[in-house]
Amino acid sequence: MALFKKKDDDTAFPEVLPAHVGFIMDGNGRWAKKRGLPRPFGHREGAKTFRKIVRHCKDIGLQNISFYAFSTENWQRPADEVQAIMNIFREYLDDVRELLTENTRMVFLGSKDAFDEDIQQKMFKIEDETRNCSEMTLMLAANYGGRDDIAHAAKILAEKVRNGEISPDEITESMIAENLYTAGYPDVDLVIRPSGEMRLSNYLIWQCAYAEYYFTNILWPDFTPDELDKALIEYASRQRRFGGV
Ligand code: FPP
Repeated sequence: MALFKKKDDDTAFPEVLPAHVGFIMDGNGRWAKKRGLPRPFGHREGAKTFRKIVRHCKDIGLQNISFYAFSTENWQRPADEVQAIMNIFREYLDDVRELLTENTRMVFLGSKDAFDEDIQQKMFKIEDETRNCSEMTLMLAANYGGRDDIAHAAKILAEKVRNGEISPDEITESMIAENLYTAGYPDVDLVIRPSGEMRLSNYLIWQCAYAEYYFTNILWPDFTPDELDKALIEYASRQRRFGGV
């Protein structure tokens, strides 16, 4: 199979696209610091990059994309920074039009409980309004932790055991997967982490079991569609063996 196909503008583009690309949006704070600005400016710029990259993902035909926007640990950040990120969420969640015109479904990964009531309502509303959008799914990990995700699935299954619906020895890997926040969506094929850090930071740890990784020193606010294309081209050239030979 050819590795690359031609885009309309005659540039090469990978034939083999990942079924799910996960983005760890890192480096916002450093981007702001480099400019002598408070950290929230970096998050605001990061949100602009997020919008640009979501649009590009749709243009090139990716079907499932996820973004690490706020971890279960991020609540420990200074209150003004948390507040600034919450306000960026509010503004974004208020404007669902682009998702609808782009036929993009939006779902949240993580428990919504920790958010202010108005943000929770906006999250439910956006999930509801985009429910039938079918060209791409945008997953936003918000108040998300990979270990929390697995513990949450374990509690659901434990409850089924207690109710006598299943016995412990019937529990399979796919039953766990079906109770994760990503239930029904493919595992992550490619993780992209900018800003020079080379770790997963509790992001989709179950779903990334066989993921490929792409690291770059670029800070998230400076991340571009061209950089994403580079990552996809590199992904297409990698040989994945899933534990086989
Ligand atoms: C990590 O960079 C980034 C975050 C914890 C927040 C990410 C949030 C956004 C980009 C806003 C998203 C908005 C929408 C609408 C999805 P960092 O602050 O840890 O950077 P640093 O490592 O340089 O300090």
